[in-house]
Amino acid sequence: MDFNQILKEIPQNVRPVFGKGRNADYIPALAAVPTDKFGMVLRTVGDECFQTGDANERFSIQSISKLFTLSLAIGFVGEELWRRVGREPSGNPFNSLVQLEYEHGVPRNPLINAGALVVCDVLLSYTEDAKQAVLDYVRVLSGAFDIAYDEAVARSEARTGFINLALANFLKGHGNLENDVDAVLDLYFHQCALAMSCSELSRAAVHLANGGVSPSLGETILTRAQTKRINAVMLTCGLYDAVGEFAYRVGLPAKSGVGGGIVAVLPGEYAVAVWSPELDASGNSMAGGAALEYLTTVTGRSIF
Ligand code: DON
Repeated sequence: MDFNQILKEIPQNVRPVFGKGRNADYIPALAAVPTDKFGMVLRTVGDECFQTGDANERFSIQSISKLFTLSLAIGFVGEELWRRVGREPSGNPFNSLVQLEYEHGVPRNPLINAGALVVCDVLLSYTEDAKQAVLDYVRVLSGAFDIAYDEAVARSEARTGFINLALANFLKGHGNLENDVDAVLDLYFHQCALAMSCSELSRAAVHLANGGVSPSLGETILTRAQTKRINAVMLTCGLYDAVGEFAYRVGLPAKSGVGGGIVAVLPGEYAVAVWSPELDASGNSMAGGAALEYLTTVTGRSIF
C-alpha cells in the first residue's frame, strides 16, 4: 500500500469541503484557529510514519482526550467501570442533559461528556495527582515529554462550561461521583485543553491497532481484550450522534474532538490522526471525515 502517495493526494481531495463547516466558537482559542489548517499522519503497527500538511502543529485535542482517560481508568478499575457508565451509543449531542436525567445519572457511554466526567472521578480516586497522571500517560505514549495543558484553554472551558457544571452536579446528585464536583470538572476541563499534534496523536493511539502493544515502546499498554473493547466503544460511541454516518462513510473506530481532530484505528494495520478545525453540525471535523473516507475508500480497507 503506497500510503505516501495516498496522503499526498488527500489535501487536494478534501479541499472542496473547506468553508462548508465552522470552527467551534464557544471559546476564543478555538474560534481563532485558521480555518484552512489541515494535517494528517498515518502510523503503521510497524512504526512507519506517513504524513501530510500541518502534521506537527499542536492543536486542542478536546474530546479525543476521552480515549486516553478511558484507557487509564480501565487500567485501574477494569470491568467495574461499567457499573457506573453504559456502553451504548447515545444518539444525542455530546453534552445532553436530558438523557442523563431519564437514565438516572448513569451516562450512556464514556465518550460523551457525562461519561467522561465519571471517568475523571475514577482517575481522581485512583491517583495522587490525576492531572499529572493523564499528562504522564499521553507523554509516554506519544514520546513527547513537552506535551502540556493549555492553561488559557482550560480557563476558558471553565468559564463557559455551564452545561458541564450541570452534568457534574447531576451526577453527584445521583451518587455517581465520589469526588468533589469542582475537582472532577477541573480535571475534565484540563484534559480537553491538552495540546498535541497529529504526529503525537498517531503515536499515542497506534497500540490500539496493535493488540495493545506500543510499537515504539515495545510495551503492553492495554491487554488484547481491553484493546478490543476500547475500539468497540470508539466504533459505537466515538463520534456522538454522527457515529452511524461515520461508520458508513469511513468504517473505522475513531474518536473526534471539537478542536477538529479525529483519531482512527485500523486494527492490525495503522492508527491515523487528522486535523482540520471546521466542524459539521455534530461537532466533528468536516475535512477530517472526508480525508478518512478517502483513505479507506482508496485503500479498500476498513474494518468492514
Ligand atoms: O466539554 C465541552 O463542552 C468541550 N470541551 C468540548 C469537548 C469535545 O470535543 C466534545 N466533542 N467533540
